[in-house]
Amino acid sequence: MAAAVTSKRRDRIEVCPDLASLSRRGAELLLTAAATAIAERGWFTVAISGGSTPRPLYQLLASEEFCGRLDWEKVQIFWADERCVPKEHPDSNYGAAHDILLSRVPLPFSNIHRVLGELPPVQAADAYEDELRRFFGGELLPVFDLILLGIGADGHTASLFPETLQTMASGRLAAPVYLAKLNSHRVTLTLPVINCARQLLFLVAGEDKAPVVREIVEAGNTRYPAALVRLQGELIWLLDKEAAGNLTL
Ligand code: 6PG
Repeated sequence: MAAAVTSKRRDRIEVCPDLASLSRRGAELLLTAAATAIAERGWFTVAISGGSTPRPLYQLLASEEFCGRLDWEKVQIFWADERCVPKEHPDSNYGAAHDILLSRVPLPFSNIHRVLGELPPVQAADAYEDELRRFFGGELLPVFDLILLGIGADGHTASLFPETLQTMASGRLAAPVYLAKLNSHRVTLTLPVINCARQLLFLVAGEDKAPVVREIVEAGNTRYPAALVRLQGELIWLLDKEAAGNLTL
């Protein structure tokens, strides 16, 4: 069972023994969030992340043990960020999710709101903003029931990197970013949208993340974009023991 504490940022921290138990806990939290959202609003809106950490969670959701526990007809899936590549490209976050989850569950095609990574970055960001406004309504900021995020060892989250934050056009819901160090064009949800979520899970595993987890969770060091994620809603850090290794809480 995860050990739960509250950080000085007032985030909830749960430390799990390993990635497998972290993924199981994350899947259970997602199911609970979905049941609440569907009961209250008729559907569940979730923005998922790429990277390797959430993959076991996605695989669990597609498994016989979990798949039948979610009303997939009422699940609306978006992405926290996407690489500007075709959906068949090995770097595509949509492509990875399609292979291990979307193709294995009874999720209607119309409930999948992917970033059109095959378009030029600005057009892809504009199109994703149009989709967000079409689904959530054009006036206010989209309020996701749940957002799943990872963090990099440099403290990035989604595709909000230390070196791209200043290029982030304010007022956008989704923005094109160019990451010179990886020569990678991406589209990312912006901080105002992320911070509007009703609930957010940071899924973080591995010893390499321990230093930045401490900098963010205990020091609140806002040089790291992930430290700028501060919700009115509930923010839970799901950490394995290695990623939590530098915490003193
Ligand atoms: C992406 C993700 C990115 C990821 C972190 C952590 O598109 O790559 O959105 O923000 O969550 O880089 O990645 P790992 O889970 O592989 O460590």
